[in-house]
Amino acid sequence: MTFKEQILQGIPNELPPKYNYSIEVNRAPKRKDVLSKAEKQLAVKNALRYFPKKWHGELAVEFAQELKDFGRIYMYRFKPKYEMFARSISEYSAKSSQAAAIMLMIQNNLNPAVAQHPEELITYGGNGAVFQNWAQYLLTMQYLANMTDEQTLHMYSGHPMGLFPSSKEAPRVVVTNGMMIPNYSKPDDWEKFSALGVTQYGQMTAGSFMYIGPQGIVHGTTITVMNAFRKIESSLQNSKNKKNAVSPPSEGTKGRLFVTSGLGGMSGAQPKAGNIAGCITVCAEVNPNAATKRHEQGWVDVLIDNLEDLVGRVKKAQKDGEVVSIAYIGNVVEVWEGFYEKNIFIDVGSDQTSLHIPWTGGYYPVGMSYKESNRMIREAPEQFKEKVQESLCRHAEAINKHAERGTYFFDYGNAFLLEASRADAKVFLNNKNEKVSSSSLGEEAGRWAYPSYVQDILGPMCFDYGFGPFRWVCTSGKPEDLEKTDKIAAEVLQDIMKGSPEEIQLQMQDNVTWIKNAKENNLVVGSQARILYADAEGRAKIAKAFNDAVSKGDIGPVVLGRDHHDVGGTDSPYRETSNIYDGSKFTADMAMHNVIGDSFRGATWVSIHNGGGVGWGEVINGGFGMLLDGTKEAEERLKNMLFFDVNNGIARRSWARNDEALFAIKREMQRTLNLKVTLPNLVEDELLENLF
Ligand SMILES: NC(=O)c1ccc[n+]([C@@H]2O[C@H](COP(=O)([O-])OP(=O)(O)OC[C@H]3O[C@@H](n4cnc5c(N)ncnc54)[C@H](O)[C@@H]3O)[C@@H](O)[C@H]2O)c1
Repeated sequence: MTFKEQILQGIPNELPPKYNYSIEVNRAPKRKDVLSKAEKQLAVKNALRYFPKKWHGELAVEFAQELKDFGRIYMYRFKPKYEMFARSISEYSAKSSQAAAIMLMIQNNLNPAVAQHPEELITYGGNGAVFQNWAQYLLTMQYLANMTDEQTLHMYSGHPMGLFPSSKEAPRVVVTNGMMIPNYSKPDDWEKFSALGVTQYGQMTAGSFMYIGPQGIVHGTTITVMNAFRKIESSLQNSKNKKNAVSPPSEGTKGRLFVTSGLGGMSGAQPKAGNIAGCITVCAEVNPNAATKRHEQGWVDVLIDNLEDLVGRVKKAQKDGEVVSIAYIGNVVEVWEGFYEKNIFIDVGSDQTSLHIPWTGGYYPVGMSYKESNRMIREAPEQFKEKVQESLCRHAEAINKHAERGTYFFDYGNAFLLEASRADAKVFLNNKNEKVSSSSLGEEAGRWAYPSYVQDILGPMCFDYGFGPFRWVCTSGKPEDLEKTDKIAAEVLQDIMKGSPEEIQLQMQDNVTWIKNAKENNLVVGSQARILYADAEGRAKIAKAFNDAVSKGDIGPVVLGRDHHDVGGTDSPYRETSNIYDGSKFTADMAMHNVIGDSFRGATWVSIHNGGGVGWGEVINGGFGMLLDGTKEAEERLKNMLFFDVNNGIARRSWARNDEALFAIKREMQRTLNLKVTLPNLVEDELLENLF
């Protein structure tokens, strides 16, 4: 059967042979066994709903075994035999080109070169699923191949509920992932309801078909590191005079030092980002395999496995004003402590160990080898927990000492401050601005001693102005189309820059530089995709220019989208909306309005997820995809939808009294007469002092 015939067939007519999956591929971890006997029976019964009765006997036994072995029923035998990758849009069997674009994006998210655990339909983040099982994949592709532009496919956590009549203007697909009744949205609930086969964790761009490989994370990390250096520009000058700082930073980022940890999935982007930002990066990684892999892939320049050599190499790099990235194979605590002792001044510091899962290998304690730690995790988990907490106290102590010398440290959304505080490390500031642990705070509320990357950097410098991770995919699959779009985007941004206010000039310039070097940085994995940070004006103008180029036949159709980690798509109190200070960061109205608003303004597909990055129940995030097919209708849609997608977020941020967002929304109201946003009246704090 051809690829097209297999897609059109959906669930095959003949029961496919039992599948012997490869043990070579990276497999998803076994999930917790949380179901009772009756619930396990229900899980198998739920899975069998997809298949004719005549197969139930054989499949029931097999699915029960999958549940036992993996904690989930993936239906491995139904994984199609054709190669999984994004084909050119013209190669899909479809009555709707919008539906074909969605098929392409789904296949990209499942491409083994892109996906983390492709056999289990997981794209990234350990549990970011596109579908729960292979039957859902087969049915969805079949629906998409058959649907017209007057139907909408509604998908419940990977399950295609069906095609419903709609209209040309409606989205072709509406996706929800992990949406729960709030009281049933705790981590253990996720285990249970996912095992039952009634929900899934879609992360952000996995279950919304918008993942584009590591490029997105490299760009976001570069923006963060560059802006971190800018943030401290003046204090860096002062730090030259700080006591013990024997290697004062030179001008610009050259020769300035960024110390961090982790060379894993997302953290592995840090050295490459550091190189693009133009500084010295030292990234500690305890797992020698992870470090070697990143070195082989060219993501880090130098590998060093002992502290003495590291100190020597870094001192030389600081003296010579080098741009270089160094992987230290060892514990990050050794680096912080060793650099303090040897008087190495650290300009910027952060951490990307996986502290969102501290007890199962997310964080390795100092003083123990990697192997020893893994043994203790298995054999003495309680003792391991103590070691992690001791290490976190030492880790925070060393950071505190560097901060005294002038180091700027920020939390990278990996729960470093949270877990360090639970270990009773000194990561709070008391009323006297002293660094203290939570136990010594007493009745005092205390504040974190360090900001998060969104509070200090991405929030005020990017999101509040409307800058966020806009991305596109050239559906022809041709590298030359991507090159043409890079050129178009660079021209549009340069043109906008001429009339941009000073406040956003730097962000514009960063993205012009990024897009000009994008091809050279060689970051395409899977589909021909690109990312850059742009505001509403930039996104709409770039999109219009793409649509014009499609219309002229210069390039094939383009899919637009974005990461959910953006201005207006995500309500997440400890990450995307952590710089919202009016109490509303624990609400999720913005994300809901985002997805509903986008859906009737022209999105080709919309998605809303519970969970993504920070965990189930901790975030609600929304996203969209939009096909630019060169038509006038596409032009209307892009203008309408991209404007709302960004400005909804800025409006909410300005209502929370964020200065940068107030600036951005007032500017937008001046040029868009149809936009009327409720603005806050600012209150003098002294007025409140003696009220209670
Ligand atoms: N990059 C971003 O933009 C971003 C944004 C938000 C959150 N995060 C968070 O960053 C964390 C890292 O993500 P990831 O995908 O890279 O995870 P990962 O687990 O793939 O990588 C973490 C790496 O840290 C190493 N490590 C653990 N303890 C160490 C120690 N003490 N010293 C040196 N190395 C140590 C591990 O061996 C592992 O390779 C996660 O918690 C993630 O949620 C990243």
